[in-house]
Amino acid sequence: MSIIREINKLRRKKNAIILAHYYQIPEIQDIADFVGDSLDLSRKSANTNADIIVFAGVNFMAETAKILSPGKKVLIPDPEAGCSLADSCPAGEFRKFRNKYPDNIVVSYVNASAEIKALSDICCTSTNALRIIESIPRQQKIIFAPDRNLGDYLNRLTGRDMVLWDGSCHVHEEFSLERIMLIKNENPEAKLISHPECQKPLLIASDFVGSTSSLLNYVSEDSCKKYIVATESGILHQMKKNNPDKHFIPAPPLDSTCGCNDCKYMKLHTLDKIYTSLSDEKFEVLVDPSVVEKAVIPIRRMLELSFQPDLRHFLTWPST
Ligand code: 13P
Ligand code: SF4
Repeated sequence: MSIIREINKLRRKKNAIILAHYYQIPEIQDIADFVGDSLDLSRKSANTNADIIVFAGVNFMAETAKILSPGKKVLIPDPEAGCSLADSCPAGEFRKFRNKYPDNIVVSYVNASAEIKALSDICCTSTNALRIIESIPRQQKIIFAPDRNLGDYLNRLTGRDMVLWDGSCHVHEEFSLERIMLIKNENPEAKLISHPECQKPLLIASDFVGSTSSLLNYVSEDSCKKYIVATESGILHQMKKNNPDKHFIPAPPLDSTCGCNDCKYMKLHTLDKIYTSLSDEKFEVLVDPSVVEKAVIPIRRMLELSFQPDLRHFLTWPST
């Protein structure tokens, strides 16, 4: 309790907010000023009046916050909180790949470095990806990066043939459909729900596919009482909190005796590190201003498009 009291004192004194992703440990989710998916967190970062943002998420999310609020101090409690998906798309190699397709625009999933965003025409998250892709005229060729599973899923949903960067997330690729099917046999009434970063056979076998916030909304609105959840296990905290009468079974990975799957990067943050981050104002997230200048354009385009009620207004793609 005393660490929470100290964190509260510091955040008031310094006019700081703590933003947390749904994959954080429950203790962090419970003390955060705001918990959300990557889209909600980017919106919150763009609109806050706080002087300091403590970002309990991974680096690409904290970088997005800095890009949207360059005048604010953005802190990450553990600077090692990277992302295997973002790492699977190095900027130098991606630039060469992009140059092979001069007629294609680039849609990048926000799970990518600031440099990749700076090489993109528009960003998306898993919450708004379908909306963003559908807003682009059908004849416009697209490169989608960095997640091949989400890209392939979007190709199937939209009937497009986007060129895909061959990247993936270690957490979502590791789920074992075989082990999940054993659980399903023992719990035939349970629905399987998955994040679109999972592999194609798992997505095809799923009753519902969606971003972290979409999965949360789905289980709250659906009448089923039991779910097998194929995404990072941190999300179970909010699912249980919002639906105490329902039962959630984490989907297991292949090579582990453990029943659930954690993102080792998301799980680096602790309450102690949040306290130190606030008290010593470390670790500051900095993005080269020349990268910010370019990367802010596709992020802002995404935010504009995400909250327009009528997509038809956007069917004229801006030339880049
Ligand atoms: P969401 O955008 O669905 O929150 O997902 C972020 C993420 O890192 C998934 O692995
Ligand atoms: Fe990155 Fe995967 Fe962790 Fe999400 S779960 S932050 S995509 S490594």
